[in-house]
Parts: sequence; structure tokens; C-alpha cells
Amino acid sequence: MAHRPPFVARASTRPTSWWLATLKKRAGRMREEHLDLGEPIAFVDPRERWAAINFFNAAFRAEESGLRQAHELADEVGRWDPELAEVLELYGNEEGWHRELLEAFLGALGGEVRPMGKVTRAFYAIYARAKRMETIVLTNLMFETIGATTYRLALGRVEHAAARQMLTILTRDESFHVPLNVHFLSRILERRPQRARRRLKLVYQLLFVSLLALPFASRPKAQAFDKITRRELSRAYAEQLARLFTHEPSLGLSPPRALLALLGIRDEDLLEPPLAATGGDAAESAAVREQVEVHAL
Ligand SMILES: [Fe+2]
Ligand SMILES: [Fe+2]
Repeated sequence: MAHRPPFVARASTRPTSWWLATLKKRAGRMREEHLDLGEPIAFVDPRERWAAINFFNAAFRAEESGLRQAHELADEVGRWDPELAEVLELYGNEEGWHRELLEAFLGALGGEVRPMGKVTRAFYAIYARAKRMETIVLTNLMFETIGATTYRLALGRVEHAAARQMLTILTRDESFHVPLNVHFLSRILERRPQRARRRLKLVYQLLFVSLLALPFASRPKAQAFDKITRRELSRAYAEQLARLFTHEPSLGLSPPRALLALLGIRDEDLLEPPLAATGGDAAESAAVREQVEVHAL
């Protein structure tokens, strides 16, 4: 792309020690935050409740997968970079905390953790088979991006106070996990040969297209709760994913232009930074959760 995004500190330029110190600070305060589930959550009709339970079940599965992958990667990375392994461990713990919150929240909705649906199961089965570290981290990075985007859009539409609190926590933390995963990917790619980067470009294009198709599966299940249409969601995924990689040129992954054009996304739409913090003050203040301002889409 001809334009260079107006960024000072990119996620990929922060040292591992910064991420470690930041995650340690966050870990120290993690358990101080509690969901306020005193008020019963009133839904318009049973369908809205059913959709809310679906929505937060999908979130639960994402946390579960994130936790497992992060801790498995930590074991592997520990052989060559113990500091980065510690960062992965703490990152996995944050996902574990989200998983606990979501389980409690599902209970408050009158729901529970359900077995995965066909599409979700197939997606995670493919993901679990990925062996190369760069594939796992890229998938995670893109998944964090679409997660943060979904939560942020939902926050702009959902009015239940307790659901808004849950969505705010998830939006804030997954937005922080995006630049963190950029850091993981950068560190891993540094150690991999050129051909690994070429292969990753193919994986990236495939993932990009697949993730934009996810709303076809999620909308019938969750739209009655989050009020996001399929087109809005696919477009938002495309725009946020495209901005992220445009603003992190060192990863060498450029979004599929033809697909963006189909969705009406122009080059100038990519000039703005992605909503998930990729650098500068946003990542800095993320160390102290209560200082983070979470904006809805
Ligand atoms: Fe999470
Ligand atoms: Fe996350």
C-alpha cells in the first residue's frame, strides 16, 4: 500500500520485557474485578435469551481454545525464550479468567456451557490440528481481532447492564490481546525461514476468507441478542483485519484486495488504525484496566 499509517509505537517494536511487565501488572489486579450479577437479566422474549446463551457460549469456546493454545505454546517456546514463554503463560491465564467469568455469566442467564455446534466444532478441530507455531499464532491473532470486533459491535446495541459489563471486559481485554499476538507472531517469524513466511501468506488468505464467512453460521444463533446483521459483521471483520495488517507491515501480510473491494472497503478506509490497540498510549494504559476507555462500534 502506498500510504504509510501514522503510527509511532507498533506492537511489533515493543520488547518482550515490556509485555511481561504489563501482563504481570494486569495479573495482580485481575481478581479484583467482579461481575455484578445482583439484578436478574430480563429479556424481551425466550428467543433473545436463547440467542444470548448462544453468543456467550461461542465466547466461552474461544476462551477455552485460547487458554489451551497459549499454554501449549508456552511449553514449546520455553525451550528457546523463557521470557516469551512466561508472557504466553500469563496471556493464557487471562483467557482462563475470562472463561471463568463467562461460565458464571451463562449461569446468571439461566444457561450453561453447551456442546459445540457443527460449524464451531469443525473450526476448532482444524485449529487444534495446526502444528506450526506461526499458523497457531496467526489464527489466534485473527480470532482475537474478530472477537474484539464482535464484542465492540454488540456493546453498541445491547442494553442489559450485566451483559454490557461482560462485553466491556471482553472488548477491553481482547483488544489488548491483539497487539500481544502481533508480538508473538513477530518473535516467532524472526526464527523461521523465508519459506515459512511464504506458506503463512497462503494460510493468511485462507483464514481471511473463512473468518468473513463465520457470520453465516453465527447470525441465525446470536443475532436476536446482539442485533448485528450478517453484512455488518462480515464487513467489520474485513475492515478490522485489513487495518490491523496494514498497520503492522513488518508481518508482511496484506489483505485480499478483491474481497475488500467486494465489501465496499476502499484503500482510504484502511488508513485509520484498527480499533484494537496496536501501539502507543492504548497499549501503555492497558496495564491498568480501569484506565482503559472502551468504545462501542
Ligand atoms: Fe479472552
Ligand atoms: Fe483474548
